[in-house]
Amino acid sequence: MRVTVVGTGYVGLVTGTCLADMGNDVYCQDVAEEKIDKLEKGEMPIFEPGLAELVTRNHQDGRLRFTTDLAAALANAEVCFIAVGTPPDEDGSADRRHVFGVAKAIALRMQQPLVVVVKSTVPVGTCDQVRAVMMEELERRQAGHAVEVVSNPEFLKEGKAIEDFLRPDRIVVGVASATAADCMRRLYEPFVQNGHPLLVMDVRSSEMTKYAANVMLATRISLMNELATVCERVGADIMEVRRGIGTDRRIGMSFLYAGAGYGGSCFPKDVKALSRMAAEADCPADILDAVDKVNRHQKMLLANRVLKHFGGDARGRRVGLWGLAFKPMTDDIRESPALVIIKRLVEAGATISAYDPEAMDNARAYFAGVKQVELAKSPYDAAKDADALLLVTEWGVFRSLDFERLKALMKAPVIFDGRNQYERREMKRLGFSYHGIGRPAS
Ligand SMILES: NC(=O)c1ccc[n+]([C@@H]2O[C@H](COP(=O)([O-])OP(=O)(O)OC[C@H]3O[C@@H](n4cnc5c(N)ncnc54)[C@H](O)[C@@H]3O)[C@@H](O)[C@H]2O)c1
Repeated sequence: MRVTVVGTGYVGLVTGTCLADMGNDVYCQDVAEEKIDKLEKGEMPIFEPGLAELVTRNHQDGRLRFTTDLAAALANAEVCFIAVGTPPDEDGSADRRHVFGVAKAIALRMQQPLVVVVKSTVPVGTCDQVRAVMMEELERRQAGHAVEVVSNPEFLKEGKAIEDFLRPDRIVVGVASATAADCMRRLYEPFVQNGHPLLVMDVRSSEMTKYAANVMLATRISLMNELATVCERVGADIMEVRRGIGTDRRIGMSFLYAGAGYGGSCFPKDVKALSRMAAEADCPADILDAVDKVNRHQKMLLANRVLKHFGGDARGRRVGLWGLAFKPMTDDIRESPALVIIKRLVEAGATISAYDPEAMDNARAYFAGVKQVELAKSPYDAAKDADALLLVTEWGVFRSLDFERLKALMKAPVIFDGRNQYERREMKRLGFSYHGIGRPAS
């Protein structure tokens, strides 16, 4: 099929590339010229395992093209995805300006019937509004092209995006007509041959499904974090409790970790956006508000503990920090707990030496001009002369380092393990003062 993707970010680029890899003819469009120039040259604007190979192959074969020119991208399109950002507005609601702006721009340029697929995470009712915006523009143009608007939320995880897109647990589409459903079935047929379902439903339920999925996962994380705090107070170990409950098949092991709080471009904003949506619909959202509150508290927890360890005064202290991305296998630092921790410690007078395997470029841009934040060349470099070391993102590379060497490099052998990656007793044996989350201190 002939597909256009508007918005070539994490979601748009992965969507366009994977659709091209199934033989579709795809145009990825974006307003960011620098991003499109990079892609044209074969450079990836983001780090995502497996993405570069797929982009290169499909680009070279001519099935995947990049442009800033929306009219050219739409010239022959049958299906057009909208995958632009929906960042939080000041009141927490999703800012849909980009989505509606793109809807209008498409209606202004389309030359034939089009199925418009909203892949951005959007509040319930947005697809109806996208359709209204487009119909108004088409009427103004006196163009009679048929428009179908489909909701197709994306469930990919950064770091596993390609795998998730090519072999999804399920695909959700919300449609208002049999024509739109047929179009989505044709497009997605190759992706559901693993037996996982293509779930066709009404548009509003599909829009809601995305928020429901994200807040369910965020709730598990905040609940585990709250349980971890209780564990500490009563002398239990959250890692043991995790084993004890995760083996219950009704609960399951995944997303059952206490840690430094959730970040990323989705959970924080989607929890807030659903809470706003509920408020606008005159519904209480007590659980959602608590999930967000617990998470904000959890993101401060490590920094507060480090400050307490320093007796409340971090001036002149040096803190090593491992992991800047909001989770491993991505370079995305949006809403990362590391940013909150660094800000708090810097405000308290500490100097930070941080290292991340992939997020250093993004961190360099983010911390430009902040003298108290140094970007280290390696995990050991980050720990050099440190009064304390914090593990914030559980990259594999931090698992099995030479802890003897580390101890020799540090000013004081103190580890705050924000992801419970290390064995308490082993750390103690090595001579570290070890502080996990939800575990008795060593
Ligand atoms: N990142 C994820 O893991 C993920 C997963 C599922 C769903 N989502 C949702 O998908 C949407 C996109 O997220 P993302 O992480 O890919 O965002 P992103 O910021 O990485 O990408 C958005 C892209 O849209 C482009 N853009 C903005 N306005 C445009 C316009 N008028 N015309 C063309 N391009 C324009 C931007 O330049 C940017 O490249 C959001 O609604 C997000 O909530 C994200």
